[in-house]
Amino acid sequence: MARIFSVVNQKGGVGKTTTSVNLSAALALGGHRTLLIDIDPQCNATNAVGHEPANHHAMIGETPLLESVLDTKTESLSVVPGSRRFQDADVMAAAGEDAAKRFRGHLDSVMDEYEYIVVDCPPSATAMTETSLTASTEVLIPIQCEYFAMVGVAQLIGTIKKVITATDGRLTFGGILLTMYDESLELTREIEDEVRDFFGDIVFENVVPRDVALSEAPSHGQTVFQYAPRSRGAYAYTQLCMEVLQRD
Ligand SMILES: Nc1ncnc2c1ncn2[C@@H]1O[C@H](COP(=O)(O)OP(=O)(O)O)[C@@H](O)[C@H]1O
Ligand SMILES: [Mg+2]
Repeated sequence: MARIFSVVNQKGGVGKTTTSVNLSAALALGGHRTLLIDIDPQCNATNAVGHEPANHHAMIGETPLLESVLDTKTESLSVVPGSRRFQDADVMAAAGEDAAKRFRGHLDSVMDEYEYIVVDCPPSATAMTETSLTASTEVLIPIQCEYFAMVGVAQLIGTIKKVITATDGRLTFGGILLTMYDESLELTREIEDEVRDFFGDIVFENVVPRDVALSEAPSHGQTVFQYAPRSRGAYAYTQLCMEVLQRD
């Protein structure tokens, strides 16, 4: 059975998409069949693996999910592209419980095809995000080493606990990841201390440093492993991948 990760934080710009794309790629490069699902209407993850957004989102449609899965230039890494259509008016919320059931049904339908499924969630507590959490086995929370890093995280933990209670414990805390880490900054170290004191062991030992390769790769439609395989960013996501594999 696949491990299904939802990558969430209602703050934008904290590294959700960068983590979804490069963790997926690292898992695939390790020989694991991996599916990246983009449910953010900005579709940055879709672009980052060299594809264009779809007209309709496969996760809320009725067509079997595998018909919408695209190969990427990374062997063993496939993607369900995002759609810009559920901007603002959240189609999912409008369609209610039916759409949520379909979303979960789609995930269940590919559980045997993939070892890892990574869902890149939008920067808001939308119905899509909550449904994704409900259907996942683990939640990954990237936290940017910046002022106000913890703002909103308590609320997010509340949402996650609610989902865990409602789903009989299928969802667990997969881990918290410190991103855009700069060890030369006092601020980074203060935030690291705060996050580790508060969350303890669920915080990954590995951190992701600020690295220009990570921010440039998506504009070339590439993962960091294609764009700059020797970069610090590529190294960091390889290390994170190993930690994720060990936490199984
Ligand atoms: N470790 C990093 N080093 C440098 N730039 C980063 C790093 N992580 C993310 N970025 C850049 O920061 C911006 C926000 O990251 P992104 O992953 O898109 O966040 P989110 O999906 O949470 O909105 C993007 O331009 C991305 O390329
Ligand atoms: Mg994003």
